[in-house]
Amino acid sequence: MKHFLTLKDFKKEEILEMLALAIQIKRDFLDSKECNLMHKKTLGMIFEKNSTRTRVSFEAGIYQLGGMGIFLSNKEIQLSRGESIEDTARVISSMLDMIMIRTFEHSRLEDFARYSSVPVINGLSDLYHPVQVMADYLTMIENGIFVKEDIFDSKHHMTPKVAYIGDGNNMTHSWLMLSAKMGFDINVATPKGYEPNAHILQEAREMARDTGAKINLYEDPLVAIKNCNVVVTDTWVSMGQEEEKMQRQKIFADYKVDEVLMQNAHPDAIFLHCLPAYRGQEVASSVIDGKQSRVFQEAENRLHAQKGIMVWLYQNSKK
Ligand code: CP
Ligand code: NVA
Repeated sequence: MKHFLTLKDFKKEEILEMLALAIQIKRDFLDSKECNLMHKKTLGMIFEKNSTRTRVSFEAGIYQLGGMGIFLSNKEIQLSRGESIEDTARVISSMLDMIMIRTFEHSRLEDFARYSSVPVINGLSDLYHPVQVMADYLTMIENGIFVKEDIFDSKHHMTPKVAYIGDGNNMTHSWLMLSAKMGFDINVATPKGYEPNAHILQEAREMARDTGAKINLYEDPLVAIKNCNVVVTDTWVSMGQEEEKMQRQKIFADYKVDEVLMQNAHPDAIFLHCLPAYRGQEVASSVIDGKQSRVFQEAENRLHAQKGIMVWLYQNSKK
């Protein structure tokens, strides 16, 4: 059974297959062509954390593919009253065709997947947010960061550079995996003590040996952003870290992506942020609302990228 918990578990070719599906499905959707690739299929969506984009894009996405989504809030299901992950997974996977989970510890997803008889998708955990970076990659392709033909022919002539500025969190980890798998360079700038998880960094560096991606860590955002083609940031206070808010706002103060910092990136660089964004903190309003920002295209691409992922999983788990 194939689950989509982290990009680590997929070959580059498989990720490209999902993206090719996403591009085709998006084209058909924008042409108002019906797409029933998941006709009468059901997607359960368990949310143990808040969400706007993930919930709406998965629920609308499965419906637009001919199926339906069932929203399962943590507050309403028995899981939060002590029913085990094992029992929950066994029961609901016997009734559904696919399950998406947004949770805290990544191990909860792994446990769930172990007992699920249908594919499980990570809709964000404390460690990873892989569906988000699939939408981010799609946005990079659409913005000509890569030559599209090169990507799908696996002839990578361009090595664009991504700069990730801010907290070494679930988004950073997913960007590291994406860079290592797809073969583009990434510079990560974080304050001391907020670097990405050392184990994930090591795994990404090992995978990067196969694709030639270079992964560099910096403390100085000015150095990390130099000449980069894509500039990425995320909130300084992820879900579950609310108690550290004041302290984090002080520690990260020099990591705001503002116009001065952006001037050090490549002049054609695009700006990405998974959202929700906190204007005036990790990003200045002038940047997120500025010419280089692609954040709303990126958010919309959640819908299309996830359709590609769902269809790919569905087709590949039938085999
Ligand atoms: N980017 C993202 O996952 O947004 P939500 O938290 O609103 O789902
Ligand atoms: N790092 C953020 C991402 C939100 C989509 C969080 O985990 O809250």
